Amino acid sequence: MKVQAAIFLFLSIMAFAAAVSAAQTGRDIFYDKCLSCHSGALALNKTKSEKQWEVTIDRMTGHGLEITSAQAKAVAKFLASGGK
Ligand code: HEC
Repeated sequence: MKVQAAIFLFLSIMAFAAAVSAAQTGRDIFYDKCLSCHSGALALNKTKSEKQWEVTIDRMTGHGLEITSAQAKAVAKFLASGGK
């Protein structure tokens, strides 16, 4: 019984660590995902609403961008707030 408890505790800690490391900010995700095809200035120099950014990011997936919807939302928020 003790071994199972130890394994369970270990797995819980790993899951927690994974969740924490997945919690990147919109800024992190932007610099991680949006600079491989074009410069970040292309986006940072544009003014769009959060909704418009979501549409733009969705179009980027058509070019080959891989992003989860939660990450896309975080980036849209980051860009809509002027890249701050
Ligand atoms: C796989 C390559 C690729 C990735 C990754 C990528 N883009 Fe693009 N992006 C393009 C291409 C190609 C164009 C030009 C065609 C177009 O506008 O759809 C473009 C154009 C743009 C434009 C100018 C046009 C407009 O609608 O204002 C912006 C802004 C932009 N991308 C933002 C982003 C953001 C933000 C990300 C990250 C979430 C991103 N891109 C990731 C390929 C990419």
